[in-house]
Amino acid sequence: MNSANPILAGKRVLVRRLKAADAEDLHRHLGNREIGRWLIGLPQPYTRQIAARFIRWSQRQSRLQKEFHLGIVLQSTQKVIGGVGLKRVDTQHRCAELGFWIGKPYWNQGLTTEAARLLLDFGFRRQGLHRIYAHTFDKNIASRRVLEKCGFQLEGVMREAVVRHHQRRAFCNYGILKSEYRNESVQRKKKRPRTS
Ligand SMILES: CC(C)(COP(=O)(O)OP(=O)(O)OC[C@H]1O[C@@H](n2cnc3c(N)ncnc32)[C@H](O)[C@@H]1OP(=O)(O)O)[C@@H](O)C(=O)NCCC(=O)NCCS
Repeated sequence: MNSANPILAGKRVLVRRLKAADAEDLHRHLGNREIGRWLIGLPQPYTRQIAARFIRWSQRQSRLQKEFHLGIVLQSTQKVIGGVGLKRVDTQHRCAELGFWIGKPYWNQGLTTEAARLLLDFGFRRQGLHRIYAHTFDKNIASRRVLEKCGFQLEGVMREAVVRHHQRRAFCNYGILKSEYRNESVQRKKKRPRTS
């Protein structure tokens, strides 16, 4: 696998580099304010031009192996339905930050968890990371659940840390180490029902 252009395949989703042709899908899903309200720094309104510019930037970042902002593709339609990324890749300390979102029609089907696990695998096994961390608003229950299902531990809560929509919100810090991820994926494999 080419690390600058990863293609990670799961059962229902594929995670791959974004292409120019994905701009419309990004625009459609990220234009939904229910998604934008949880994503710090997402421009609103989220226009098609902004999506196209982001895709070009993400391709450069992947090539330079600085950050990986990848598309979550539904295998059955081959459409981009969300995004998952490893940001702030720190090669000295071998740490990076995980982020994700998925289009509203696809919520609560386990698809982001599947995509996040693929990216953890990529981060720990291919990129040689030691630690992956994530931040989320304390009220973002779905996001916290995804992290917990992937084996992240809550490492602290930053009280009243972020001003969002004129209100101070708490921010949760989660983290997972390579050793914990290895144990988590071994346990998950053991639990899988035998097919034969
Ligand atoms: C957070 C987000 C990516 C989750 O995606 P998803 O594909 O729905 O996630 P999954 O289906 O893999 O897991 C969601 C879990 O949260 C649970 N959940 C969702 N809303 C919940 C609620 N209000 N109370 C309790 N649990 C809830 C689901 O039941 C599921 O858990 P389960 O598998 O144990 O039943 C999606 O909601 C999203 O894009 N939100 C907007 C952007 C965002 O918040 N990004 C993260 C920023 S840090």
